[in-house]
Amino acid sequence: MTAATTAAPTPSAPTGMRRWIRRPGAEGVDALALEDAAVPAPGPGEVRVRLRAVSLNFRDQMLLSDAYGATDVPFVPIADGAGTIDALGEGVGGWAVGDRVVGNYFRSWYDGPPVAGQGWGLGTPAESGMLTEYAVLGADRVTRIARSLDFEQAATIPCAGLTAWTALRGDRPYRRDLREDDTILVLGTGAVSLFSLLLARTAGATVLATSSSPRKRALVEALGAAGTVDYRATPDWGRVVAQRTGGGVQLVVNAAGPGSLPQAVEALAFGGEVAQMGLMDDAQRPIDWGAVMMRSATIRGTAVGSAAAHADLMRALDEHPIEPPIAEVFAFEDARDAYRAQADPATFGKVVIRIAA
Ligand SMILES: NC(=O)c1ccc[n+]([C@@H]2O[C@H](COP(=O)([O-])OP(=O)(O)OC[C@H]3O[C@@H](n4cnc5c(N)ncnc54)[C@H](OP(=O)(O)O)[C@@H]3O)[C@@H](O)[C@H]2O)c1
Repeated sequence: MTAATTAAPTPSAPTGMRRWIRRPGAEGVDALALEDAAVPAPGPGEVRVRLRAVSLNFRDQMLLSDAYGATDVPFVPIADGAGTIDALGEGVGGWAVGDRVVGNYFRSWYDGPPVAGQGWGLGTPAESGMLTEYAVLGADRVTRIARSLDFEQAATIPCAGLTAWTALRGDRPYRRDLREDDTILVLGTGAVSLFSLLLARTAGATVLATSSSPRKRALVEALGAAGTVDYRATPDWGRVVAQRTGGGVQLVVNAAGPGSLPQAVEALAFGGEVAQMGLMDDAQRPIDWGAVMMRSATIRGTAVGSAAAHADLMRALDEHPIEPPIAEVFAFEDARDAYRAQADPATFGKVVIRIAA
């Protein structure tokens, strides 16, 4: 950010706030504590965001255990938050008080291909997160919310929505953009898969999905999936998809896990790609590397996305609005219940916590 608009917090700015802390020395939702804190002031180059809503991701559950490494540092959890800028630090240009923004998941990945050293994202021991009434972020760490989205919908975008966008359209040297005559396969009916489905449909592509649940298969078909396969009842689901599509799909969005990779490769057409990001299924299964070679397939590790891609996605959502799949909205005080709901395998769609109306 360049120009020199300087505005101190307004005199009427609140001094006290509430925030949830992930405490060391406890696990699961017992590790969450609601506490009072001083409202932080933005420093040079920073903005303060009055948060309206956050959404939970699978990684936020992992951060209630030591899955990201043991820590004795208390921190504000949750990466995905939406709100309005309510104060600007010295030297911040391009933003105004009242602008509607979401936080960017990663630090330092501004544009282009992935960069090293982007960290683990907001809501980790190293970077305070969004389950708080006010958060201070770098002015380059926020993205303008699409006009088509309200705060609760916008809060679902920064991780799951952007990961789907990166899987479908992210920077990649070999694969062309998605076309109307492409077919993609999404694995499971988690949030990344649902966003991939909705975004691919706006591009006119055909979408197939796997799911272990008959109820969820009906729900994804209602959202626009052309067909579904039960990955438990049909262990060779990749081969079945290749047969059904008469030669395979152009892209598999693997939000399931490494254990699903061998069948994901089986589902690919020549020149196809697996966007690999899930950690749910880590079974050790052999991959047919000959098929990877003979199909000139690409397996691409995919991690959320850049700030520029986040802004592109928000602009695209104004041109081609989608309705983010929200399962349930909880009150700020009920954050523990929101975590429980997100961990429930029956949940279909994003779990949101409303921080302020
Ligand atoms: N690398 C990244 O940038 C990135 C970003 C976001 C998420 N992720 C990862 O992607 C995964 C999904 O995230 P999410 O937010 O979409 O999670 P979520 O909303 O909690 O979805 C979980 C879904 O995973 C599906 N699933 C579980 N085991 C499966 C298996 N063996 N095969 C196929 N599907 C399976 C289930 O689908 P059914 O109930 O339909 O069977 C379940 O609904 C997580 O591991 C998460 O950490 C990575």
